Parts: sequence; C-alpha cells; structure tokens
Amino acid sequence: MKAWRAGRVLFGLVLLLPALALGQTVASDPVPGDENAAVEALLARMTLEEKLGQLTQYRGRGSDTGPRVPEGGEAQIRQGQVGSFLGVYGADYSRRMQQVAVEESRLGIPLLFAHDVIHGFRTIFPVPLAETASFDPGAVENAARIAAVEATAHGLHWTFAPMVDIARDPRWGRIVEGAGEDPYLGSRMAEARVRGFQGGDLAAPDTMLATAKHFVAYGGAEGGRDYNTVDVSERTLHEIYLPPFKAAVDAGVQSIMPAFNEVAGVPMHAHRPLIETLLRGQWGFDGVLVSDYNAIQELMPHGVAATRTDAGLLGLEAGVDIDMVSGIYLEDVAEAVRDGRLDEAFVDASVRRVLRAKHRLGLFDDPYRYSDAAREAAMTLTPAHRDAARDMARKSFVLLKNDGGTLPLSKRLRTVAVIGPLSDDRRQMLGNWAAAGRPEDAVTPLDGIRTALGPDVRVLHAEGAEIDGDDTSGIDEAVRVAREADAVILMLGEDQEMSAEANNRTTLDLPGVQQRLAQAVQATGKPVVAVLFGGRPLSVNWLHENVPSILMAWFPGVEAGNALADVLFGDHAPSGKLPVTFPRNVGQVPIHYNHKNTGRPPDAKDKYTSKYLDVHWTPLYPFGHGLTYTTFRYDDLRVKTPRIGRGEAVDVEVTVINTGRRAGDEVVQLYLRDDVASFTRPVKELRGFQRVTLQPGESRTLRFRLEPEAMALLDADLRPVVEPGTFTVFAGGSSAETIETTFEVMAD
Ligand code: NOJ
Repeated sequence: MKAWRAGRVLFGLVLLLPALALGQTVASDPVPGDENAAVEALLARMTLEEKLGQLTQYRGRGSDTGPRVPEGGEAQIRQGQVGSFLGVYGADYSRRMQQVAVEESRLGIPLLFAHDVIHGFRTIFPVPLAETASFDPGAVENAARIAAVEATAHGLHWTFAPMVDIARDPRWGRIVEGAGEDPYLGSRMAEARVRGFQGGDLAAPDTMLATAKHFVAYGGAEGGRDYNTVDVSERTLHEIYLPPFKAAVDAGVQSIMPAFNEVAGVPMHAHRPLIETLLRGQWGFDGVLVSDYNAIQELMPHGVAATRTDAGLLGLEAGVDIDMVSGIYLEDVAEAVRDGRLDEAFVDASVRRVLRAKHRLGLFDDPYRYSDAAREAAMTLTPAHRDAARDMARKSFVLLKNDGGTLPLSKRLRTVAVIGPLSDDRRQMLGNWAAAGRPEDAVTPLDGIRTALGPDVRVLHAEGAEIDGDDTSGIDEAVRVAREADAVILMLGEDQEMSAEANNRTTLDLPGVQQRLAQAVQATGKPVVAVLFGGRPLSVNWLHENVPSILMAWFPGVEAGNALADVLFGDHAPSGKLPVTFPRNVGQVPIHYNHKNTGRPPDAKDKYTSKYLDVHWTPLYPFGHGLTYTTFRYDDLRVKTPRIGRGEAVDVEVTVINTGRRAGDEVVQLYLRDDVASFTRPVKELRGFQRVTLQPGESRTLRFRLEPEAMALLDADLRPVVEPGTFTVFAGGSSAETIETTFEVMAD
C-alpha cells in the first residue's frame, strides 16, 4: 500500500472509532467537507504533548543540498513534537519528511511546510509596494498565483503573505512589503493577493494558505523604528489599519500573523480582545493564527510575562495557535495545563484550527500532493512566468517627471551611457524577501539595455560610486563616460537591504555619494534620465530640480533590465501611480494624502496656520501621481442622482480624454469627502480606481458606483453610519490633481 494511502486509511479509522462505539456505521474514508467530525475524531486520540506538537513550528536550516529541517528535526517529527516548518522545501525532500510524519509518527498527521513567499518564489516579481503601484489587482493576483504555482511545486503549503500593513512612515523599512499608505488600495491588494495564493480550491495541488500579516498596526511603529511601540487611537485603528485585514478575511484568508508590536499597552500576541473578540468573533475568521518569529517568547521583554510558561499561556489564551520557533508551547506549557493554570480547551481549540488547515489543504487525503518533482521541474521559472514578471514590472514603474519628453529615448542614439551603482548588480534587482530567487536569474539594467539596443548602439558603463559609502574616486570615470554619450541613464537608489525588516532609515535621501555622482554627470550637459531603485519613497529634491526625467523603478524583480529597456526606449509606456506619498524631506513624515483639514489648514499668507518654516507643506510627489508618454484630460464629472436617500448608492461618471500623440494607460482615481460630519473626516479618501487604455484623441466615460459603505464614517461606537449632508467627489490622475462635484445625502 502506498504510504499516503496508509495515512488516509489511518485517518479513516480515526473517524470510525467513535462511531463504532456508538454502534453507527460510517464510511471508511473521511467525508470531504465533514472536516469537523474528522478533526474531532483525531483530536480525541491525541495526548497533550501531541497536541502541543501540532502547535509548534520550527525553522529549517540551509544546507548545500537545499533547506532542511533543523538538527534533531526528524526525531521530533517521529515523536509528534512538531506540526509545521518554516523555510523547509523541495519536492523530494519535503516528500521524505512528510513520509516520516505520516508513516513513522504515532498518529500520522501530515506536516505543513511554510515559507515567506512574498513577491514570487523563484520567479521574482517586483517588490509588493511596486506591484501595488500598478493599481492593477488582476495583475497582482496573477503574480501571487504564479508564486503559489512555483512554491507548491516545491512542497510548500503555506505562505506568510500578504503583508497588509498600512504604512505612513517611509523611515520604516518594511514599507516595501505592503501596499503603501491607503486603506482602500491596501484592501483591494490584500484581496487580490489572497485570491492569487489560495486560488479557488485550497485542496488543489497548486494553491496554498495565505497569511494576512501583521495584525495589527505594525506600520505605526513610533519613529519608523521596526518593532517599536505603537500608540494609535481606536478610531485610526478601525479606519486605517484594520480594513485591509477585514478585506483579507472577507476574501477567505486562511491564516493571520499577529504583529510584534503592542496596541494600547497590550502586545498583539497577547491581545485577546482584538484576536478573539474582533477577528474571530465579529469578523468570523476561522483560520489559523501563527505567531511571528519568536514573538511568544518576546512577551517577556515586552514586560507582560515573567516566565516562558506565562508567555505561552498568554499566547494560547489570546488565541495564537502556532508558536513559531520559540518552542514554548511544546516545552513550557504542558505542566501548567495539567495543573489547571490553563484550560485544555484553549489548546484543543488551537489544535482544531491547525488540523482543519491541514484538512482543507487536502493533506489527509494525499499528504504528498504538493511534493511533486515533475511539477517542480516543469513549473519553475518558466518563460511564461518570466513574461508575467516583466509585464508586472513595466506596470509598476512610476514616471515621476518627464520634462520636454526626454523619455522615451530613441533607439537610434549612437552611444548611451549607463551610469550608477545599480546598473549591473543582479542581487539588487530582486529586492528583499526574495524567497528562492537567485541573482543569476536576474537581468540587470545594463544587460536589458544592451539587448534592447543591439550591436549598432554603443552602450558604455561606469559604476561611478557605491550605493552607500563616501568613496568619490569613481566619479571622474563616470563623467568621462558620460561625455562620450548622446544620452545618460543614471541608475541610482537604495540597497535592497535598506528597505527590509529591521532596516529603517532616518533620511530619505539618496545614500552615499550618489547625489554628487548625479551632479557631476549632469554638469556635462548631456541629456540625463534618472532611474531610481528603492523600497520606500525617496526625497530626491535635487534630481527633481535638475534632471528632466525621473523614473521610479523600485526593485523590479528577475526581469528588471528587460522591463526597464521596454519602457526607457518606448516599446511600452510607464503607467504606475504612487501608492505612497514622497515627502520633500524626512521632517515632513508622517505625510499622507488622506490627512485631516485641521482648524487651520496651511495658508501661505497666514502665519498661524499648519505648515513649516523651511519647506512647503505639500509633498515632493503626491499619492496617486504618475505620468506616462501621453497626457490625459478629465472632464464632465457628474453624479447621476445629485440627491440620494441614506442607504442608497450613487453612480458617478467622468470622461477621460487622451490629449497626447501616443496610446497610453491611465489609472483613473475617484476620491470622496464627507464635507460636514459629526467627526472630522480626511480631506479626501480613495474610493475607486480603474485602469484604462486610450488611443490618441480617444475619450472614454467611466462609471463608478459609490455604495453606502463608501460614504460611511464610524460613529461614537465605531459603527458605520452614513450621515446626511453634502459629499464632494473628486476624479483625477493623482490625489492632488482632480476635478470635483458634489451630491447630497438627504435626511430620512
Ligand atoms: C519575521 C517577520 O516579521 C515575518 O513577517 C515573517 O513571516 C517571519 N519572520 C518568518 O520569516
């Protein structure tokens, strides 16, 4: 009998036993869909230690032959002391470990293999903030789908993505992992990514559990310092930080990871009100909660637990089902349960959720369905996956500035200089959290430009400077190269490590001597285009004032160079929009488009208004900004019914005209403001967007429906309510350039 068959029969027997005791007859195989009965039967047979084993996740280790379980891991699998692994994959290897679990442990419960598959598995897509700039949920869903197809073929069942934390502070390195500053856009991206990873059928061999993280308000870390304290009002929590989690739950996300931070004095790994009452109770989330890395143990330095046991009990009571790496649930909790310090029902509830996840993945039916060497070979880094990554990268580039139509560059130039520390560094292109991505797979900008221009164009290159550091010795050579060229493309920006976990900055300027390099090159008088790499907004004022064209490329993934060449030389037009505000300097932080008006909104002529002495109050580039190679005009914004009753929707139409000479994509954005309300409201809030392609001269009328939820604010009890009065609707190609009209919600 095949091993997995044996496991299946065992699971069937487990079902049979209680039924026999009751004298009933049942089918020998678990009934699909009858997950509760199956789970209960198994739970009834588990010792306390086996239960705690299911709630324990260990981290794998690297080896010459790939990621492996840690020392002693196999013995722990055999003894039922571990339910899942982080960072262990590979079709053959995961099959072998699964076999140990299914055939050699007492209960034969299959393992879960988890990993941070954030923006691709082997085919690395643009970093999540960049993908968001596409304002294209369909493309983002497809990117997550491809990541899941590759990851599951390598034996993985579970990704710790999407990261749905709203981030209003670009000092925080993890801003790169999310969808930026806006809860509406963040919610659409959260849903898209959940759908992409989980597909339509969790038991299919190419779908995986998604994890919405980090619950909640992790992006609100004081000072932008990762892991720091968060102090947030309940209203802001509900209006800004929670909505993308709610969207992920509504999209059926199967797993959630609490955040390292505290909220209102309670570390999230001990936050029973937010986890049990809100998430599970009010929202009906029935999936698994997995702790963040060692975060159960960190309840001690947080100062709410004196011992490892106390920390474990707090976590379990709060409803954190799985303990990632600390080992506390397995090692330090059993005695306290036996002594009655924790009701075993808490443990059982968590075990149920873990077994249910395994059941939903179909692992009790076939524990090896994800460990398929043939699929692994066929589905990894395929040409189709690379094409999708290239397309996604093109859509994610944001043209910040393009004076005089400097871009696109002609392919008929005789000599092009590619200058800067990010011109030819493969690793940088992948960005952080690159899963199984390999630098050798990546196409650098220099490679991509050489391929696109072919042998008839001379492509010169100089690094000019390092990304960071104060060495200026390469600048002269860069200037010499620039002088020989008809046009210069500067490849500047951050190191991919600078926007990542635990990598926070107190400046948003270009690192090192890169601005000096840019200044020296610009002084040659050659046409200069700047391409920026980074995982956060950069305050590039000098470039903005002195260089005609700036393209934000983020970290574009394996197809970086090809996608850049496509856009720089005009085969494709850039069409991304900023998902986050670019400040003029770090002192403006926090700065976001959906701010409140205040009692004294900024006014240049009035000293006693809300502004700065040294810089203008507006950002360098606003949320939603992004140019392309043509221009658009917005016209005729109208609401179909200028007066509506409470509870009614309103249809809004706007006409967009391509006024330039090229076809182009525009992301049409719709914002709303409740003009007078019982609580202060943001000056505008994104409520819809649509991407359209328009030929030169073509005009299109787009319709948006604003449902009552779009007009609602939270009342004093944080319940959504639509208040009567006027609302202003704005439409435009950026949050700062809009046309507007109004409608009125009538009192009952
Ligand atoms: C810590 C990070 O905060 C989390 O996002 C990630 O999933 C875990 N490490 C596992 O790598």
